[in-house]
Amino acid sequence: KEKDTVPWFPKDIQDLDRFANQILSYGSELDADHPGFTDPVYRTRRKEFADIAYNYRHGQIIPRVEYTEDEKATWGTVFKELKTLYPTHACREHNRVFPLLEKYCGYRSDNIPQLEDVSRFLQSCTGFRLRPVAGLLSSRDFLAGLAFRVFHSTQYIRHGSKPTYTPEPDVCHELLGHVPLFADPSFAQFSQEIGLASLGAPDEYIEKLATVYWFTVEFGLCKQGSEIKAYGAGLLSSFGELKYCLTDTPKLQPFDPEKTSLQKYPITEYQPVYFVAESFEDAKEKVRKFASTITRPFSVRYNPYTQSIEVLDN
Ligand code: TRP
Ligand code: FE
Repeated sequence: KEKDTVPWFPKDIQDLDRFANQILSYGSELDADHPGFTDPVYRTRRKEFADIAYNYRHGQIIPRVEYTEDEKATWGTVFKELKTLYPTHACREHNRVFPLLEKYCGYRSDNIPQLEDVSRFLQSCTGFRLRPVAGLLSSRDFLAGLAFRVFHSTQYIRHGSKPTYTPEPDVCHELLGHVPLFADPSFAQFSQEIGLASLGAPDEYIEKLATVYWFTVEFGLCKQGSEIKAYGAGLLSSFGELKYCLTDTPKLQPFDPEKTSLQKYPITEYQPVYFVAESFEDAKEKVRKFASTITRPFSVRYNPYTQSIEVLDN
């Protein structure tokens, strides 16, 4: 039967608890070229953060973390540098939300905001929430979270020796890059749309959707009036790449899921290619069309009252 071949996917928001046990690499295992590889203090710290996330269950309060002076200093550097770039480089949605985060969530150069506070704020804006993650999730699991408006978030901070750019997501990336946009209704819907399209999809298709996610939510540029601005979180959290992406070095192409989903990309250096969306609404329409080309013997709908996925037979 066709149904037997459909990969398992979460139907209820609590099912996301299962992902904690299927991390591809635990957050404390660092590659040899990681800036913190030879720093024992940093490695111990990473283990503490990974353990918090590993033990987290849906519905719990995200444990508050007391960040060290070193960690706060790293955050301060990143925060101050980025703040000078946002007015000229970030999209208007990001610039609209940022002052609210300063007002309600403790976004300041001398304070690393707590995931729990930020998650509550997001829930009041768009229903998005954060959940701590202990390491790298598979694309399938990560995208499935978005279908529930759940965003898997790191809590540790990048190594202090390289604040400009880090080779993996960290709390600066989540809080400064992702959070402002998940507070925007149109963007939140766009993100959930990608998640819904991924549920039960075949592996080849997951890879394409993950690539679309990469070139939008992580590294997207968009038109705003006569200008081009950054809305991708990987750009909005790296003051090196945020400057770079709007110079004439990288190649820009129009966002088109059919083509974008086939583009290869590096994961530990600045992107050579970016895709430019007309607007979030336009990107959402295009992703929706693209999603309708996937061969699934059923369709899905999110029920926000029960926080579960309704599966409709075709
Ligand atoms: N380079 C980003 C920064 O400095 C962090 C990052 C690393 C990242 N790898 C990523 C972001 C992959 C998105 C996707 O903030
Ligand atoms: Fe990210």
